[in-house]
Amino acid sequence: MDVFLPSVDQGRLVAALKRGIAVCDLGCAQGVATILMAQAFPASHFTGIDISAEALETARANAREAGVDNIVFESRDAAELRHPNDLSARFDYVTAFDAIHDQTQPLEALQGIYEILKADGAFSMIDIAADSDIDGNRDHPMGAFLYTVSLMHCMPVGLVDGGAGLGMMWGRQQAETMLAQAGFGQVTVEAIPNDPFNLHFYCKK
Ligand SMILES: C[S@@+](CC[C@H](N)C(=O)[O-])C[C@H]1O[C@@H](n2cnc3c(N)ncnc32)[C@H](O)[C@@H]1O
Repeated sequence: MDVFLPSVDQGRLVAALKRGIAVCDLGCAQGVATILMAQAFPASHFTGIDISAEALETARANAREAGVDNIVFESRDAAELRHPNDLSARFDYVTAFDAIHDQTQPLEALQGIYEILKADGAFSMIDIAADSDIDGNRDHPMGAFLYTVSLMHCMPVGLVDGGAGLGMMWGRQQAETMLAQAGFGQVTVEAIPNDPFNLHFYCKK
């Protein structure tokens, strides 16, 4: 909260959040990040989306306990958002914190994010910092561990129902390709202060 958000768009995002904008946290799970953002920026409105109804029950309970009222949680499949829907062009800013590589339909989910963003909106995809080619990860200090976690968790969940099964080591190059395929015309890839494990893909239409 004190490091990542102020780094986005050279501080302009935080200024907009203070004024009041519509934000969607896609793949919010139990809403930990969504609730922290809603508490920090009471003038903005937050929508947490996840496919897991169970996770969202916990998210709603957490929001009630935290006393935040500028937040709603909705159970939706990100891939279904790519078609015109009630959320089309609704959001100024969308976040996805480590939530794209586990999707069974990641390209369709990115197309969904494109659909729900306003024309001048921005999307922050925070995902694992890795190379798409295994050779490029040979010197990664946690490479073997991350590939193992990916094989044991991310690949199985991503392969359900004939899914893409990207795995968490899908890497920067594949991510950039898929963001372009989803329609994003401007993608800037940045390191995140104090977070060597993730990259910030800052995307605009
Ligand atoms: C690794 S968790 C990330 C959770 C959260 N963003 C965080 O950083 O704590 C990925 C989340 O994506 C959600 N998810 C997976 N497929 C989805 C889909 N098709 N639509 C919406 N959410 C999905 C999962 O239910 C899970 O909660």
